[in-house]
Amino acid sequence: MGRISFSKPLLFKLTSLALVVTLLSVGVTTFFVVQVAQTSLYDRMQASLTAEAEIIRIYLNDAAFSDSELQSKVVQIGQQSERFITVMNVTGGIVARSHSEDVPLAEQVTVIMPLDEGRVLRIGIEQSKISDAVRGLIQGAILVGILVAAVSVLFAYFVNRAIAGPIVDLLEVVRRLKHREFGRRVLVRSDDEIGQLGRAFNELSETLEELFDAISDRERKLDAILSSMSDGVLAVNMQRKVILANRAVADLFNIDEQSIIGKNQFEATRNTDLSKLLDDTIDSGEPIIKEIKARPGSQRTFAVTSSPLTNQDGSPLGAVAVLRDVTNLRHLEQMRQEFVANVSHELRTPLTSIKGFVETLLAGNLDDQELTKRFLSIINGETDRMIALINDLLDLSRIESGRQPLNLGPVDLHQLFEETIMILQNKADAKQITVRNLIYDPVEVEGDAKLLKQVAINLLDNAIKYTPEGGSVTVEAVKSPDDVEVIVSDTGVGIPAQHLDRIFERFYRVDKGRARHMGGTGLGLAIVKHIVDKHKGSICAESRVGKGTKMRLTLRRFNREQLELS
Ligand SMILES: Nc1ncnc2c1ncn2[C@@H]1O[C@H](COP(=O)(O)OP(=O)(O)OP(=O)(O)O)[C@@H](O)[C@H]1O
Ligand SMILES: [Mg+2]
Repeated sequence: MGRISFSKPLLFKLTSLALVVTLLSVGVTTFFVVQVAQTSLYDRMQASLTAEAEIIRIYLNDAAFSDSELQSKVVQIGQQSERFITVMNVTGGIVARSHSEDVPLAEQVTVIMPLDEGRVLRIGIEQSKISDAVRGLIQGAILVGILVAAVSVLFAYFVNRAIAGPIVDLLEVVRRLKHREFGRRVLVRSDDEIGQLGRAFNELSETLEELFDAISDRERKLDAILSSMSDGVLAVNMQRKVILANRAVADLFNIDEQSIIGKNQFEATRNTDLSKLLDDTIDSGEPIIKEIKARPGSQRTFAVTSSPLTNQDGSPLGAVAVLRDVTNLRHLEQMRQEFVANVSHELRTPLTSIKGFVETLLAGNLDDQELTKRFLSIINGETDRMIALINDLLDLSRIESGRQPLNLGPVDLHQLFEETIMILQNKADAKQITVRNLIYDPVEVEGDAKLLKQVAINLLDNAIKYTPEGGSVTVEAVKSPDDVEVIVSDTGVGIPAQHLDRIFERFYRVDKGRARHMGGTGLGLAIVKHIVDKHKGSICAESRVGKGTKMRLTLRRFNREQLELS
């Protein structure tokens, strides 16, 4: 048996109750027993005094003692019986007495009996003698009561501990269940109701654990699916409060995924269209597909499929919206339309001119050799332009489609620009433009030699084309551990700041008339940009109108060590 402790309130209460009940019952019993005993003790004493008085009366009446003899007999009887005996005459005067000093009458229990000759016999006993006996009785009863109380409290304590212990265990297990600790079990000590409760509880806890595992597993999977979805998912209940939102939807609206749960749908997304779409879905009970803008006037477009959410029994629960960002798609569509328009326009111009010259030739006389030759050479020039345009378009689409994989290898920039300058030297000489390659030492970048050559030609061609006579063009390189920055500078016309971002778009020309006059189609830099992107490099333009332009091209350095390792 363990140490006695009252740290558990239930055990304390039960044991205290046992103590109170025991004390009460022992107390009440003792009280009544003592009462009854006291009364019967007095009655018995009274009866025995009466009997004794009767015997003494008979004795004294029969003997007819003289007064002195009576005195000595009374003393003798009194001493032997430990009673106060007094014989009195008619007037109340004392004839004989057993004790020279009597205890006061008030402290005695007395019986009076008439004798012959008008005398009276009084026999008494000290009241305190009876009280002593009663006190002894009370003390005995209290002692027994305390003993009984102590034994029963001890007994109650152990019985109660057997009851309260498992309940405390149960409580602990329940507390842990609240914190999702399922491992703890109740120790079953008995087969009684409490033991059965413990066993039932252990089974319940096991079932709960399995259930909880299953739910968390499902929740985890759902969470993983939702958070890895690129489409935004937003679910609301009938009160239009958000009940589920994944990371993608939070990103789309630039909000915090967790903090919007429980918020009103509009408060959460600040999007009237989406809010209305969800309302309409709930009201109609039908799925709705619609495109909405992220904000009024914004370019960002979402394709939203909103479906009603229903319970298993078909009762409505709310609505769920799946959002896909179709901004790029719409942008691409727009670009494609523009592209077709641009291409058609670019082709129509030379074709119109060719048709004009051909018609003139057909209508006129072909004998004018000089004129015919001039017209045919114009037609030839226009045809060249169309071929160049179509070649550019084909290049662009080939690079863009990715059908042609990059043929990566070390490309020496010094060599590359030496060769490019050689190709364009005539063009530069015609305008007395000096082209200098300041990349003196070999610098290797990782790239496709053919495509990088195209980049170099386009950049140098632009630099020469947009630089007035007598200007200069330079190429230099700045090395860093991983990259090389190539800077192609010219002293040309420059590009106004507002056009700088757009010159890499297809068909974009700063000064349309002049560029076309120079035979440009506006595809050169678009091709350059595509090639550079394919190489995971970057390109940007810096320019001051009338002063010149700097094209900065960054490419990855070729790493021979890495090549050898792989
Ligand atoms: N070095 C430069 N100096 C000034 N303007 C430039 C320079 N490079 C490009 N531009 C401007 O950017 C526009 C786009 O250049 P891009 O090379 O794409 O087209 P293009 O030279 O007109 O035609 P293409 O190269 O297809 O023959 C040019 O029309 C021109 O206005
Ligand atoms: Mg160009």
